Amino acid sequence: MFTTSDRLGGMPGQKVALRGWLAARQDRGRLVFVTLRDGQGQVQLVASKQQLGEEELIALRHAPLESALRVWGTVGSVPGGDTVELQLERVEILPSADGFPIGRKEHGPEFLMEQRHLWLRSPRQAAIMRVRSSLEQACCSFLHSEGFFRFDAPLMTPTACEGTTELFELDYFGLPAYLSQSAQLYSEAGIAALEKVYSFGPCFRAEKSNTRRHLTEFWGVEPEMAWVEAEENMRFQERFIRAILAAVAEERADDLRLLEQDPAKLMLPAGGFEVLLYGEALRRLAGKGRVLSWGKDLSVEDEEALSADFDRPFFIYKYPVQCRAFYIEPDARQPELALSSDCLMHGGFGEIITGGQRAADADFLLARIREHGLDETVFSWYLDLRRYGGVPHSGFGMGIERMLRWICGLHHIRETIPFARTPQRCRP
Ligand code: 4AD
Ligand code: MG
Repeated sequence: MFTTSDRLGGMPGQKVALRGWLAARQDRGRLVFVTLRDGQGQVQLVASKQQLGEEELIALRHAPLESALRVWGTVGSVPGGDTVELQLERVEILPSADGFPIGRKEHGPEFLMEQRHLWLRSPRQAAIMRVRSSLEQACCSFLHSEGFFRFDAPLMTPTACEGTTELFELDYFGLPAYLSQSAQLYSEAGIAALEKVYSFGPCFRAEKSNTRRHLTEFWGVEPEMAWVEAEENMRFQERFIRAILAAVAEERADDLRLLEQDPAKLMLPAGGFEVLLYGEALRRLAGKGRVLSWGKDLSVEDEEALSADFDRPFFIYKYPVQCRAFYIEPDARQPELALSSDCLMHGGFGEIITGGQRAADADFLLARIREHGLDETVFSWYLDLRRYGGVPHSGFGMGIERMLRWICGLHHIRETIPFARTPQRCRP
């Protein structure tokens, strides 16, 4: 029976077997120290001639870095530390080529991205992937506990959801189709059957923007709720964010520390998330010397400047309708404003969620579809949702990679997903 590196702390003095990869080695003459990496983390192995035998010690000394190993030994404590190590009694080395391309020296991001299939093994990258997995799990668990049903939308669609400029087109047996930008429109069909649904899947955006926060393929979690209006939607987002961050902090504290992040940063201060009206956001930005004319969307830099003043996430609410997608419900008293919000992470980070109340009226929607230059013939199904049993409803979408970038304190979004897709890169 093999165990894993994360369990050894609770097994001092016991004989155990482990499997993993040879991540690093230090040869100290009589003793050889090896860092063994497995799916949960890493542990130090100590090999001596007395305990391991000469032949196996020599083999271990010469095994190429990244060789796969099966090892057996006794768990001991590292002198002067609170970690454990394994005193080796037996080693099996699986064949592996020499010359692992990623070494200890600094490599540039382009090289590392080209070697992404190997880079993923490094302790930092593996920690990020474990945090990602926990974050995804936390989103689904929270929504499930709130009575949501997971509702999977198609990835090949005949329509744009978020505007026509960012579509990847494909040839669907001679007809045009597009990779989905968002599951939202389909989830709106789901709520009339299930009331509360969420999608969890890839979203595609053919934006040529080379920023530290955009991917052309990202993963979205998009809840959609019947009977919920815009303000309740924001309150729900607050509970969602608090819950998923708390769950990740609890499950991945060690990985967060490895990434030099204090897990306590995920426990947000008490008190509600502030709701800033769009007009107020403009005034605050002007106070920072960033003058924006009414009707303009905030830039990345504007969001960063604004969010630097907050110690917890906050909303910008009631954007001008021209800043928003076609499907948003206008404010009844001020129809030039949309019942739509962005949630921004604090500390200079920026947008993490967009959400809002969906337009209820079929005629209004049809007019908006025409205004946006969308093909109305492929939207008749969407208008049916208003014609038959329409209810007030709202929802939102959060990018997993955006949230992960905040959680892990990463400079660039490319490290948040196993294989990033950007305008420059569709490999490996
Ligand atoms: O703001 P977006 O475009 O909103 C929608 O797609 C709505 N249909 C969501 C909804 O109401 N169901 O995208 C939602 C979130 C953004 O807030 C951001 O976190 C992330 O998805 N996102 C991206 N992440 C990485 N790369 C990109 N190019 C992204 N575009 C959006
Ligand atoms: Mg948005």
